[in-house]
Parts: sequence; structure tokens; C-alpha cells
Amino acid sequence: MSVLNRNFAAENIIKTMITIIRRIIMTMVAVLAAVGCSDESSELNARTMENTGKTLVVYYSFTNNVRTIVGELTKQLDADVLEVEPAEEGLDYAANNYAIGSSLIAGIRKNPNDAGSYPDIKPTDIDWTRYDNIVVATPLWWSQMAAPMQSFLFHNGSKMAGKHVALIVSSASSGITSTVADARRLLPDVTWAGDALWINNSNRSHTTTLLTQWLATQEFQNKQDMKKMYVTINGQTQGVTLADNQAAQQLVSKLEEGQLDVTLSSSGGFEIWGPLGFSLPTSNRQITAQPGDVVIYNGSNICLFYGSNSWSYTPLGKIDGLTVNELQAFLQAGKSNIKVTLSLTPVATSIGHVNSNATKSECYTLQGQRVEHPSHGIYISDNKKVMIK
Ligand SMILES: Cc1cc2nc3c(=O)[nH]c(=O)nc-3n(C[C@H](O)[C@H](O)[C@H](O)COP(=O)(O)O)c2cc1C
Repeated sequence: MSVLNRNFAAENIIKTMITIIRRIIMTMVAVLAAVGCSDESSELNARTMENTGKTLVVYYSFTNNVRTIVGELTKQLDADVLEVEPAEEGLDYAANNYAIGSSLIAGIRKNPNDAGSYPDIKPTDIDWTRYDNIVVATPLWWSQMAAPMQSFLFHNGSKMAGKHVALIVSSASSGITSTVADARRLLPDVTWAGDALWINNSNRSHTTTLLTQWLATQEFQNKQDMKKMYVTINGQTQGVTLADNQAAQQLVSKLEEGQLDVTLSSSGGFEIWGPLGFSLPTSNRQITAQPGDVVIYNGSNICLFYGSNSWSYTPLGKIDGLTVNELQAFLQAGKSNIKVTLSLTPVATSIGHVNSNATKSECYTLQGQRVEHPSHGIYISDNKKVMIK
């Protein structure tokens, strides 16, 4: 072997060794990266779980445009983020002149009420009670909402009832009217936070500004700002978070004059209901009332649900934080002539100690002790809470 050949051979051996060492290092890096990734994603999950943000951004993205929009959005909005993913991975919805995307949209258009029309998506596990506001961000396909997002809303729409929902649609150039109609069809019981934001190829470079301007127009729900009412039955008082509508506002005005005593009875195995004694402004719509819901029926009847029923109601609010069993017990499910007190402050449970012969001028503390000369504070007088300044 010539020196040249020996050198070449040695060089080859060294090269081979370098290649082997490189492969070992790359494998180790890959393994470490994989471990790192799974750590990172579980950390992300943990962060998502810990985040008590009241807003959830749900998005689907095939070619990353919506993903980029959501990245910008979450710089401006404190929110948890959920990505909708098709169950079948690796499908190219745009191949062969958008053949797969096109047939999925055609299938949904043909039978929008049939679950079989919607493509399978990966399962999601969302605690909907944590969120008051949802932002839905979706691409547009053949003028409609992208099929995987339609699947998500088809399966989860009822759980989003009563929440404030905002919509962002990304298209190349087509207008979003039909996509907005899809959202309204799939989410019939939500409150829309405002107009949808349309981002397309000609305004995409201004995404950050568009989001800022659009967010300022959206009416998101802040539970802290929402009015509360209290329902007292059999000495137990529960808070009700009131809806943001005229009926709730007018009921609050009535209750500002004093608490209201009504007599309700069980009906249908799902509610207690009865007349308020006056009418409230209606905004009736077909809704599937859920346990805890408080609604107005026929303008002048109040219904408190421990079960579920679909009818045309005006939403009034929701009883806070009781399980179905607790609701059944609290609402005296199955009984008739239930005495129910509605008020704007929790009714003093010792109100029963007030002497029924008491004159109007007699005052009691919230603990039920009679006070001859009340100074400033809250007292019970004539079975009503009064503020003495
Ligand atoms: C199956 C399919 C159909 C589409 N149809 C339309 C259309 O009708 N009009 C349009 O302007 N853009 C259409 N697009 C383009 C997307 O709406 C647009 O690129 C969008 O920003 C994609 O969002 P993404 O990158 O998050 O997936 C279509 C894209 C796909 C994959």
C-alpha cells in the first residue's frame, strides 16, 4: 500500500469513526430532545392546568396561518389554548385541487345534522366550567368553516352554551359570511362577543394591529362584573350569576326595591317554576336548559332547573356551584308550593327569628338580635334588609 493509499485508508477509517461517533451523538441528542420535548409538553400541560384564565382559545390550522394568528393573539390576551387535531394524521387537504378538503366540506353541507358527516378529531378533555369566554380561530375551506373545527364545535357546542364567543376566520381571499353562518349554526346558545375578525392574504401582515383593534370591540364576560342574585329556600341561600340581558336588569331593579317571595312548584321532573307576579322583557330563544339554569318562561314565570329541558326561554342566570344532586335537594325537586325568596344580598338565615308581630320600626341585626337604636349598618326590618346610613 502506498503512503498515499495508507493515508486515504486511514482517512477513511477516521471518517468512518467520525461518522459513527456523530451518529451516536445525534442519537443521544435525539433521545435527549425527545425526553426534553415530553418534559416540555407535560410542563405546558401543567401550566395550562394551573392557569385559571377565564378565556380559552380553540384553533385549528392546516398550513400554520391560524397558528401564527393565535401566537399573536395570546401575546395580547391572557388565555389557555387548545389545538383541534384531526384524528387521521398526515392528510393533505389541499392535494389534487383540494380534493379531501372539498369532499369533507361537501359532506357536511349535505347532512349538517348527522354526526357521521364530521371528520373524527383527536379527543379533547376540557373543563368547560373554567371558561367564560371562548375565542374560535379557524381557516376557511370552500367558503365554509374548516371541517375539523366544524367537528369540534358540533361535538362541544352545547357545552359552550351561555359563554361569550369570539370568532377569527383566516382565508386566502374569500369572504367569511358562510363561515360565520356555520359558527352560528353550530353554536346556537352562545352570546357572540362581537363581529368576527377576517384575516386574509392582503391584510395578514397587519395581524398584530388587526387583533388589537378587534379585541377592543369584543365584549368578553368578566364574572367579577356580573350581577348576582340570591335564591333562598328552606333557610339555604345560593348565589345566582345573572345573565347580561334586559330581563335580568329589570329583575335587579325590582329587587332593589326589596326581596321578592314567590311560590314555585316542581314540574316535568326537571324544574321548579311559578309566576313572578309581574312581566319581564323577553328575548326568547330555543335553548336546552341545563341543571342550575334560571330562565323566564312566557315573560312572567321563573323556572329554576335541576334537570334539562329544551324550550323557548329567556335566560336569567345560573345557580352557582351546585352539583345536580345538590340542586335537586336545594330546589326541593318533586315538591309543590315551595317558598322561594329572591334577593340582591344573601338573606339572613335568622330572619325566621323576627317576631311576626314586629312593627315596621323594629330592627334586628343580621344575627337576629333586636336593636332599639340602630346606628349605621345593615339590619332586618319588616322582613327586609335595610341599610341605615
Ligand atoms: C381545503 C381548503 C380549501 C380552501 N378553500 C379556500 C377558499 O374557498 N377561499 C379562500 O380564500 N381560501 C381557501 N383556502 C385557503 C385557506 O383558507 C387559507 O390559506 C387559510 O389562511 C389557511 O389557514 P391555516 O394555514 O391555518 O390552515 C382553502 C384551504 C384549504 C386547505
